[in-house]
Amino acid sequence: LASPHHDNGKGSGDLSNVAPERHKLSPAVEGVGDGRAFFTEPLRDFSRADQRDAFTAGIEQATVPQVANDGTVEDIDKAISAADAYFPTWRDRDPVERANMLVRAADIMRARRDELSGVIIKENGKCWVDADADVCEAIDFMEYYARCAVPLFTRERMGLFIGELDEQWYTPRGVTGVISPWNFPLAICTGMTTAALVTGNTVVVKPAEQTPGIAKIMAEILWDAGVPKEALHFVPGKGETCGAALVRDPRVAVLAFTGSKAVGLDIIKAAGETPEHQAFVKKVVCEMGGKNAVIIDTSADLDEAVLGVRASAFGFQGQKCSAASRVVCVDDGGGVYEEFAKRLVESTRALVVGDPKLPGTDIGPVIDEEAASKCRHFIQRGKDQCTCALEMKVPDGLEAQIGKPYVAPAIFTDVKPEHDVAREEIFGPVLAVLRAKDFDDALRIANDSPYKLTGGVFSRKPAHLERAKREFRVGNLYLNRGITGALVARQPFGGFGMSGVGSKAGGRDYLLQFVEPRASCENT
Ligand code: SER
Repeated sequence: LASPHHDNGKGSGDLSNVAPERHKLSPAVEGVGDGRAFFTEPLRDFSRADQRDAFTAGIEQATVPQVANDGTVEDIDKAISAADAYFPTWRDRDPVERANMLVRAADIMRARRDELSGVIIKENGKCWVDADADVCEAIDFMEYYARCAVPLFTRERMGLFIGELDEQWYTPRGVTGVISPWNFPLAICTGMTTAALVTGNTVVVKPAEQTPGIAKIMAEILWDAGVPKEALHFVPGKGETCGAALVRDPRVAVLAFTGSKAVGLDIIKAAGETPEHQAFVKKVVCEMGGKNAVIIDTSADLDEAVLGVRASAFGFQGQKCSAASRVVCVDDGGGVYEEFAKRLVESTRALVVGDPKLPGTDIGPVIDEEAASKCRHFIQRGKDQCTCALEMKVPDGLEAQIGKPYVAPAIFTDVKPEHDVAREEIFGPVLAVLRAKDFDDALRIANDSPYKLTGGVFSRKPAHLERAKREFRVGNLYLNRGITGALVARQPFGGFGMSGVGSKAGGRDYLLQFVEPRASCENT
């Protein structure tokens, strides 16, 4: 399930394979790190025996910290008090020093990358490629945000009026509550946490209940890299208690959340309350779900389309908000629908359901019993409403051996837009293949969802690709490739509609969520 779109370069930190012109795309900020330009961390190349061996050793060495999710409302209160008290000190710290802490933390993660992947594999069941990508993305967020943050705090002159000095700059907002998800347990937690820290906000992190271990390691790495304990607080606990208290506390100025639509909407609502003594309106940075569609045009290269859809639908068992859960295939009577569906089913059948610690495994466990039973419910609904073209089997004894529930890939055909598998976010390895009568109809069906996160089109008609750019309204549109695996600074990630509010993670403007603009005018 490797994405062909990641850099498959040399080991970490090696710039020799980066073309010089790429350095110019995002200029390095003087004084941050060693002054290097930003480039994404090369993924491990598992075709090389040395990298496979190092990764295997990393997995063996990895220990998931045992973290009890027993934080209380009092723990949250204490953490917020401390973060609030320290905020002015952290706000006024030299931005270059804050940025350099992220660069140092990125170096620590780079040095421990295989072990960190091992922790992710053991804690949340990711397979090799996805665990490695999770670690690389965490490194990328830190390196990139370090470089983006510093210029925000330099006063910029606006206009050139004689006798008047007009300037604009940004100021940190305050205590930030980070509520992180289990599906990118290192990358997204690191991204939200360090975006807030590097822009001068103090942070209270409440990690996903399923993956507190890797989140704790992240906090320890940031502390080791120089982030003061007073600036970063880690409180593992339940969403209903700790999360709810963090969201509702009047001293919390920013909430950064990635997770389900239900929780996201609750956070937005709760954050809208402004009790008498609260001195600001809370800012919510919120990334929610998706019901992402890939359009297969009659002119599509089916070899590419099958592999792109397969990786996007079943990578990490479909548990990515970016995952493909709908395919909309144009059926003009020429047989593309049947041909595509047949090839997709046969290709998916080749995926190996197994132990995620082993290199040959494509499909590991789902995160927990609740997720598994939701998938099973929708697989049953699919069987009731449309055609089950593939339901793979979980090998006997595997669940007992791994100690986690499994749901193997399922593909439904003859799906109508009103069927449950075409509408509900299942967040598992369940794919609905719908029929459209032409490209217009395909765009209409693809757009017919309140979620606006990712989308894809496989077509060899330039006019159709151009129309998709204009009319397929999603946050991240991918043409003739898979729809997952957005790279920092190259595919800034995030959606609109019911998929989220706020700007794109890994993009130029993300950090603006965490600061307030200020301006001054001096009569000279
Ligand atoms: N950023 C991830 C992706 O693009 C999803 O969160 O797959």
